[in-house]
Amino acid sequence: MSDSYAVVGNPVEHSRSPAIHAMFAAQTGQQLTYERLLAPLDGFEATLRAFAAAGGKGCNVTVPFKFDAFALAAVRTERARLGGAVNTLRFDADGWTGDNTDGAGLVNDIQRNAGRTLAGLQVLLVGAGGAAAGVLGSLIAAAPARITVVNRTVDKAQALVAGHAHLGVPLHAATLADAPAEQDILINATSTSLAGAASPVDARVLARGALALDMMYGPKAQGFLDWAAAHGAEPRDGLGMLVEQAAEALFFWRGVRPETAPVLKTMRSELGEAL
Ligand code: ATR
Repeated sequence: MSDSYAVVGNPVEHSRSPAIHAMFAAQTGQQLTYERLLAPLDGFEATLRAFAAAGGKGCNVTVPFKFDAFALAAVRTERARLGGAVNTLRFDADGWTGDNTDGAGLVNDIQRNAGRTLAGLQVLLVGAGGAAAGVLGSLIAAAPARITVVNRTVDKAQALVAGHAHLGVPLHAATLADAPAEQDILINATSTSLAGAASPVDARVLARGALALDMMYGPKAQGFLDWAAAHGAEPRDGLGMLVEQAAEALFFWRGVRPETAPVLKTMRSELGEAL
Protein backbone atom coordinates (compact mmCIF):
# COMPACT_ATOMS: atom_id res chain seq x y z
CA MET A 1 0.00 0.00 0.00
CA SER A 2 1.14 3.55 -0.75
CA ASP A 3 1.98 6.00 2.01
CA SER A 4 0.14 9.27 1.66
CA TYR A 5 1.46 12.81 1.87
CA ALA A 6 -0.02 16.21 1.03
CA VAL A 7 0.67 19.89 0.70
CA VAL A 8 -1.66 21.86 2.97
CA GLY A 9 -2.38 25.53 2.34
CA ASN A 10 -4.95 28.18 1.50
CA PRO A 11 -4.87 28.73 -1.40
CA VAL A 12 -3.21 25.51 -2.54
CA GLU A 13 -4.56 24.76 -6.00
CA HIS A 14 -1.56 26.47 -7.65
CA SER A 15 0.96 24.24 -5.85
CA ARG A 16 3.43 22.36 -8.08
CA SER A 17 4.49 20.08 -5.24
CA PRO A 18 2.29 17.11 -6.28
CA ALA A 19 3.94 17.04 -9.72
CA ILE A 20 7.42 17.25 -8.19
CA HIS A 21 6.79 14.47 -5.67
CA ALA A 22 5.20 12.24 -8.31
CA MET A 23 8.42 12.54 -10.34
CA PHE A 24 10.60 11.88 -7.27
CA ALA A 25 8.53 8.80 -6.37
CA ALA A 26 8.76 7.38 -9.90
CA GLN A 27 12.51 8.00 -10.00
CA THR A 28 13.29 6.47 -6.58
CA GLY A 29 10.69 3.66 -6.63
CA GLN A 30 8.98 5.01 -3.51
CA GLN A 31 5.38 3.87 -3.03
CA LEU A 32 3.60 7.10 -2.14
CA THR A 33 0.78 9.39 -3.10
CA TYR A 34 0.90 13.18 -2.71
CA GLU A 35 -2.16 15.40 -2.92
CA ARG A 36 -3.24 19.01 -2.41
CA LEU A 37 -5.25 19.68 0.73
CA LEU A 38 -7.12 22.97 1.10
CA ALA A 39 -7.50 23.87 4.78
CA PRO A 40 -10.01 26.50 5.90
CA LEU A 41 -8.24 29.53 7.35
CA ASP A 42 -9.57 28.61 10.80
CA GLY A 43 -9.24 24.86 10.30
CA PHE A 44 -5.58 24.02 9.75
CA GLU A 45 -5.18 21.78 12.78
CA ALA A 46 -8.47 19.94 12.17
CA THR A 47 -7.48 19.33 8.54
CA LEU A 48 -4.12 17.90 9.60
CA ARG A 49 -5.61 15.71 12.30
CA ALA A 50 -8.16 14.27 9.88
CA PHE A 51 -5.43 13.60 7.31
CA ALA A 52 -3.18 11.90 9.88
CA ALA A 53 -6.11 9.87 11.25
CA ALA A 54 -6.83 8.64 7.71
CA GLY A 55 -3.25 7.32 7.48
CA GLY A 56 -1.32 10.36 6.23
CA LYS A 57 2.40 10.07 6.99
CA GLY A 58 3.36 13.72 6.70
CA CYS A 59 2.79 16.94 4.83
CA ASN A 60 4.25 20.09 3.41
CA VAL A 61 2.80 23.32 4.68
CA THR A 62 2.43 26.50 2.66
CA VAL A 63 0.90 29.94 3.14
CA PRO A 64 -0.48 31.00 5.51
CA PHE A 65 0.10 28.07 7.88
CA LYS A 66 3.87 27.79 8.40
CA PHE A 67 3.68 29.41 11.83
CA ASP A 68 0.69 27.26 12.86
CA ALA A 69 2.64 24.19 11.79
CA PHE A 70 5.54 25.35 13.96
CA ALA A 71 3.21 25.62 16.94
CA LEU A 72 1.71 22.16 16.32
CA ALA A 73 5.03 20.30 16.07
CA ALA A 74 5.94 18.42 19.25
CA VAL A 75 9.59 18.27 18.13
CA ARG A 76 11.33 20.78 15.85
CA THR A 77 14.59 20.51 13.97
CA GLU A 78 17.23 23.13 14.70
CA ARG A 79 16.68 24.83 11.35
CA ALA A 80 12.92 25.02 11.96
CA ARG A 81 13.56 26.56 15.39
CA LEU A 82 15.88 29.17 13.91
CA GLY A 83 13.39 30.24 11.26
CA GLY A 84 10.39 30.10 13.58
CA ALA A 85 8.39 28.32 10.86
CA VAL A 86 7.72 24.79 9.67
CA ASN A 87 7.14 23.80 6.05
CA THR A 88 7.40 20.02 6.52
CA LEU A 89 5.73 17.81 9.12
CA ARG A 90 6.33 14.11 9.71
CA PHE A 91 3.58 12.30 11.58
CA ASP A 92 5.61 9.97 13.79
CA ALA A 93 3.76 7.55 16.06
CA ASP A 94 5.04 9.36 19.15
CA GLY A 95 4.33 12.91 17.92
CA TRP A 96 4.73 15.28 15.00
CA THR A 97 8.18 16.50 14.01
CA GLY A 98 8.50 19.84 12.23
CA ASP A 99 11.28 20.77 9.84
CA ASN A 100 11.97 23.69 7.53
CA THR A 101 13.50 22.66 4.21
CA ASP A 102 13.23 26.06 2.50
CA GLY A 103 16.70 27.27 3.47
CA ALA A 104 18.47 24.08 2.42
CA GLY A 105 16.43 24.20 -0.78
CA LEU A 106 17.60 27.73 -1.53
CA VAL A 107 21.25 27.00 -0.72
CA ASN A 108 21.27 23.79 -2.75
CA ASP A 109 19.74 25.61 -5.70
CA ILE A 110 22.33 28.39 -5.54
CA GLN A 111 25.29 26.04 -5.07
CA ARG A 112 24.37 22.99 -7.14
CA ASN A 113 22.05 24.29 -9.84
CA ALA A 114 23.33 27.85 -10.26
CA GLY A 115 26.92 26.78 -9.54
CA ARG A 116 27.80 29.55 -7.06
CA THR A 117 29.67 28.50 -3.93
CA LEU A 118 28.48 30.81 -1.17
CA ALA A 119 31.62 30.55 0.97
CA GLY A 120 33.41 33.91 1.02
CA LEU A 121 30.72 35.81 -0.92
CA GLN A 122 28.78 38.97 -0.05
CA VAL A 123 25.08 38.13 0.26
CA LEU A 124 22.17 40.56 0.34
CA LEU A 125 18.88 39.18 1.64
CA VAL A 126 15.97 41.51 0.92
CA GLY A 127 12.97 41.06 3.20
CA ALA A 128 12.48 40.10 6.83
CA GLY A 129 9.15 38.27 6.81
CA GLY A 130 8.54 34.55 7.02
CA ALA A 131 10.26 33.75 3.73
CA ALA A 132 13.49 35.49 4.74
CA ALA A 133 13.43 34.09 8.28
CA GLY A 134 13.06 30.58 6.90
CA VAL A 135 16.30 30.73 4.90
CA LEU A 136 18.73 32.88 6.88
CA GLY A 137 20.06 30.04 9.07
CA SER A 138 20.89 27.88 6.05
CA LEU A 139 22.55 30.81 4.27
CA ILE A 140 24.75 31.33 7.33
CA ALA A 141 25.63 27.63 7.41
CA ALA A 142 27.04 27.99 3.88
CA ALA A 143 29.66 30.42 5.31
CA PRO A 144 29.46 33.54 3.12
CA ALA A 145 31.79 36.42 4.07
CA ARG A 146 28.88 38.60 5.13
CA ILE A 147 25.10 38.68 4.96
CA THR A 148 23.17 41.94 4.99
CA VAL A 149 19.44 41.79 5.63
CA VAL A 150 17.55 44.84 4.35
CA ASN A 151 13.86 45.49 4.81
CA ARG A 152 11.32 48.26 4.31
CA THR A 153 10.62 48.02 8.05
CA VAL A 154 14.17 48.04 9.38
CA ASP A 155 13.20 46.88 12.90
CA LYS A 156 12.21 43.51 11.47
CA ALA A 157 15.58 43.15 9.74
CA GLN A 158 17.31 44.03 13.00
CA ALA A 159 15.28 41.46 14.93
CA LEU A 160 16.03 38.76 12.37
CA VAL A 161 19.75 39.51 12.48
CA ALA A 162 19.75 39.57 16.30
CA GLY A 163 18.17 36.11 16.38
CA HIS A 164 20.99 34.70 14.21
CA ALA A 165 23.92 36.76 15.51
CA HIS A 166 25.48 33.87 17.44
CA LEU A 167 26.05 31.74 14.36
CA GLY A 168 29.47 33.05 13.36
CA VAL A 169 28.97 34.90 10.05
CA PRO A 170 29.03 38.73 10.12
CA LEU A 171 25.42 39.92 9.83
CA HIS A 172 24.12 43.44 9.27
CA ALA A 173 20.66 44.96 9.10
CA ALA A 174 19.77 48.06 7.07
CA THR A 175 16.98 49.89 5.32
CA LEU A 176 16.32 49.23 1.61
CA ALA A 177 17.92 52.60 0.78
CA ASP A 178 21.05 51.73 2.78
CA ALA A 179 21.60 48.35 1.11
CA PRO A 180 25.34 47.88 0.46
CA ALA A 181 26.69 48.10 -3.10
CA GLU A 182 28.40 45.38 -5.14
CA GLN A 183 26.88 42.25 -3.64
CA ASP A 184 27.67 38.85 -5.17
CA ILE A 185 24.30 37.27 -4.42
CA LEU A 186 21.00 39.13 -4.17
CA ILE A 187 18.01 37.22 -2.83
CA ASN A 188 14.56 38.79 -3.03
CA ALA A 189 12.47 37.32 -0.22
CA THR A 190 9.87 40.11 -0.23
CA SER A 191 6.39 39.87 -1.63
CA THR A 192 6.96 42.88 -3.90
CA SER A 193 6.91 40.68 -7.00
CA LEU A 194 3.28 39.92 -6.25
CA ALA A 195 2.55 43.57 -6.96
CA GLY A 196 4.55 43.42 -10.19
CA ALA A 197 7.37 45.61 -8.88
CA ALA A 198 10.78 45.12 -10.49
CA SER A 199 13.08 45.26 -7.49
CA PRO A 200 12.83 46.64 -3.97
CA VAL A 201 16.51 47.66 -4.08
CA ASP A 202 18.62 49.81 -6.40
CA ALA A 203 20.78 48.18 -9.09
CA ARG A 204 23.95 49.47 -7.40
CA VAL A 205 23.66 46.50 -5.02
CA LEU A 206 24.70 44.20 -7.89
CA ALA A 207 28.37 43.32 -8.27
CA ARG A 208 29.47 42.56 -11.83
CA GLY A 209 28.01 39.16 -12.78
CA ALA A 210 26.01 38.88 -9.55
CA LEU A 211 23.36 36.22 -9.14
CA ALA A 212 19.95 37.81 -8.55
CA LEU A 213 17.37 35.34 -7.28
CA ASP A 214 13.67 35.88 -6.60
CA MET A 215 11.98 33.23 -4.49
CA MET A 216 8.89 33.51 -6.69
CA TYR A 217 8.50 31.73 -10.02
CA GLY A 218 6.21 32.00 -13.01
CA PRO A 219 4.84 35.34 -14.22
CA LYS A 220 5.10 36.85 -10.72
CA ALA A 221 8.90 36.77 -10.84
CA GLN A 222 9.25 38.22 -14.32
CA GLY A 223 9.58 41.90 -13.40
CA PHE A 224 12.48 41.16 -11.05
CA LEU A 225 14.16 38.79 -13.52
CA ASP A 226 13.95 41.36 -16.32
CA TRP A 227 15.35 44.03 -14.00
CA ALA A 228 18.26 41.76 -13.01
CA ALA A 229 19.10 40.90 -16.62
CA ALA A 230 18.89 44.54 -17.68
CA HIS A 231 21.53 45.37 -15.05
CA GLY A 232 23.98 42.65 -16.02
CA ALA A 233 23.12 40.15 -13.30
CA GLU A 234 22.31 36.48 -13.78
CA PRO A 235 18.57 36.21 -13.10
CA ARG A 236 17.17 33.19 -11.30
CA ASP A 237 13.64 32.43 -10.18
CA GLY A 238 12.45 30.28 -7.27
CA LEU A 239 11.63 27.13 -9.19
CA GLY A 240 14.94 25.45 -8.38
CA MET A 241 14.47 26.28 -4.70
CA LEU A 242 10.99 24.73 -4.86
CA VAL A 243 12.33 21.47 -6.32
CA GLU A 244 15.27 21.38 -3.88
CA GLN A 245 13.10 21.99 -0.80
CA ALA A 246 10.84 19.16 -1.95
CA ALA A 247 13.87 16.86 -2.22
CA GLU A 248 14.86 17.78 1.33
CA ALA A 249 11.32 17.01 2.49
CA LEU A 250 11.38 13.58 0.85
CA PHE A 251 14.66 12.87 2.61
CA PHE A 252 13.21 14.04 5.93
CA TRP A 253 10.18 11.75 5.51
CA ARG A 254 11.77 8.66 4.00
CA GLY A 255 15.56 8.92 4.08
CA VAL A 256 15.76 8.88 0.28
CA ARG A 257 17.53 11.51 -1.85
CA PRO A 258 16.10 11.98 -5.35
CA GLU A 259 18.00 13.50 -8.24
CA THR A 260 16.72 17.01 -8.65
CA ALA A 261 18.25 18.09 -11.97
CA PRO A 262 15.94 16.09 -14.28
CA VAL A 263 12.88 17.12 -12.25
CA LEU A 264 13.83 20.79 -12.41
CA LYS A 265 14.32 20.47 -16.15
CA THR A 266 10.85 18.98 -16.62
CA MET A 267 9.22 21.58 -14.39
CA ARG A 268 10.99 24.31 -16.32
CA SER A 269 9.76 23.07 -19.66
CA GLU A 270 6.23 22.60 -18.31
CA LEU A 271 6.25 26.21 -17.16
CA GLY A 272 7.59 27.20 -20.55
CA GLU A 273 10.30 29.38 -19.13
CA ALA A 274 13.83 29.96 -20.24
CA LEU A 275 15.46 30.53 -16.82
P1 ATR B 1 6.43 36.12 3.60
O1 ATR B 1 5.97 35.02 4.47
O2 ATR B 1 6.22 35.88 2.14
O3 ATR B 1 7.83 36.55 3.89
P2 ATR B 1 5.55 38.42 5.02
O4 ATR B 1 5.97 37.81 6.31
O5 ATR B 1 4.26 39.19 4.95
O6 ATR B 1 5.45 37.35 3.90
O7 ATR B 1 6.74 39.37 4.54
C1 ATR B 1 6.65 40.11 3.37
C2 ATR B 1 7.99 40.81 3.13
O8 ATR B 1 7.88 41.60 1.93
C3 ATR B 1 8.40 41.76 4.23
O9 ATR B 1 9.79 41.82 4.30
C4 ATR B 1 7.80 43.09 3.72
O10 ATR B 1 8.39 44.25 4.24
P3 ATR B 1 7.81 44.86 5.65
O11 ATR B 1 8.36 43.98 6.72
O12 ATR B 1 8.34 46.23 5.68
O13 ATR B 1 6.32 44.79 5.54
C5 ATR B 1 8.14 42.96 2.25
N1 ATR B 1 7.32 43.83 1.40
C6 ATR B 1 6.02 43.67 1.06
N2 ATR B 1 5.62 44.66 0.23
C7 ATR B 1 6.68 45.47 0.04
C8 ATR B 1 6.92 46.66 -0.72
N3 ATR B 1 5.96 47.22 -1.47
N4 ATR B 1 8.16 47.20 -0.69
C9 ATR B 1 9.15 46.65 0.05
N5 ATR B 1 8.99 45.52 0.78
C10 ATR B 1 7.79 44.94 0.78
